[in-house]
Amino acid sequence: MFLSVANFQGRSRLPLIEDPATIDLLQVLIFFLSGFHFSAAGLLLGGTAVSLALRHLGGTPARTQWAVALLDRISPGRVFPFLVGLIAVLAFAGFHLLQPTPLYDTRFWSLLFALLFVGLGLLLPYRALVKSRVRPSAWETVLGLAAIFCLGLAYFLLFSTIGLLVRPEKWLHLSLVPELLFSWHGTARFLEFILLSLALAGSVLLGGRYKEMNPPRRGGATLAFLCLILLPIVSLFHLHTLPDLALSVDVFLVSALAMAAAGGVCLLLIAFFKSSVGGAGGTVLFSLLGILLLWLGGDFLERGNAMAPEAIAMGIPALPKATEAGEPEKSPEKEADPGAAVFDRVCKACHRFDRKVVGPPLNDVLPKYRGKAEALKSFIANPVKVDPEYPSMPDLNLSPEEISAVVDYLLEMSGEGR
Ligand code: HEC
Repeated sequence: MFLSVANFQGRSRLPLIEDPATIDLLQVLIFFLSGFHFSAAGLLLGGTAVSLALRHLGGTPARTQWAVALLDRISPGRVFPFLVGLIAVLAFAGFHLLQPTPLYDTRFWSLLFALLFVGLGLLLPYRALVKSRVRPSAWETVLGLAAIFCLGLAYFLLFSTIGLLVRPEKWLHLSLVPELLFSWHGTARFLEFILLSLALAGSVLLGGRYKEMNPPRRGGATLAFLCLILLPIVSLFHLHTLPDLALSVDVFLVSALAMAAAGGVCLLLIAFFKSSVGGAGGTVLFSLLGILLLWLGGDFLERGNAMAPEAIAMGIPALPKATEAGEPEKSPEKEADPGAAVFDRVCKACHRFDRKVVGPPLNDVLPKYRGKAEALKSFIANPVKVDPEYPSMPDLNLSPEEISAVVDYLLEMSGEGR
């Protein structure tokens, strides 16, 4: 079951579960744990933001009452935030078992969980302060904002790294070029999560104790409506920015379903605006939870596509399988060649001469650069998209000396007709 533990360039150990039945079971388990976690966390995050806004729109007794009722509904009981954190730990631990990447090391998880638990912990004193006074105090604002900041940052980091999972060609270079952590599809996922969180908070204002209170109901409905109108736009952007590797028919299908459901909820909300009566709250809340599960499902599918064994092998060329595949032993003279050193350190992660790794086999592409060292230098200094079959080669931030050395080495190697 828990099969090979591979050494990832000596930096990280990668547990790989290879038994398909275990993987499926874990996937389902993680899916439901994550579903619970993201809906509860979304409610806490969105509800806190909305309660803070309600309080600052004017500290009237009525607004305080709405804010308190909102906080009571999103966070039943004192231990609830910690339950959410605990489930997150379980879900992410399972997730970690399934994702054989070097991205998630102890430092990453420590930072993520520290942010998560500090954010959740701050919600308790925040709630107590909201309940204790009619007018918001400075402390209350600071605690509320700090909680939102910690939770927001934790989820931004999480979605950024999840975004990286569909880009295996970036992994090796993450420590060299930390900017690689940023990706538009990771950011789009984060925005989708924020929109869903706010819509959930809005839908809470629609039902329950608010039955007799019209202003918060209309406010909640408006918030949910605006978020749901924006959601498909962000989702389309998300699909647009995904690498081909992650796309498949089911990814589109699940996205389309989520967008259709968002449209359906908008229609429900329009009906509510017209009549202002009826218990739309529960229906809207449950539809939103359904959309959240679809959203999460899409994420699992994308990652499933991009983390297929072939893709993983592409992203982790340093796994024993790849390095043992008949690479020539380093000879002393080769080690003395600075170009060979640059090649081994940087390029070899993605290139071999005789076969495709992340980039094309160099034997195929070097002939066109024969006698054109300058063109090759400028490509390496500033890689442009060449072949639609491949991802783009990242900018490697090499110095002109390193580039010139590696180009000499490559042209010499190709001249030898390797
Ligand atoms: C992160 C992976 C990665 C690294 C590291 C990398 N490459 Fe690439 N390389 C690629 C990919 C992907 C392509 C295909 C790009 C395309 O077709 O748009 C490519 C293409 C190339 C090409 C072909 C360009 C063409 O005109 O077709 C050359 C030459 C090349 N790389 C040289 C290098 C050298 C030299 C290094 C080290 C200094 C290096 N690469 C490091 C991924 C990488």
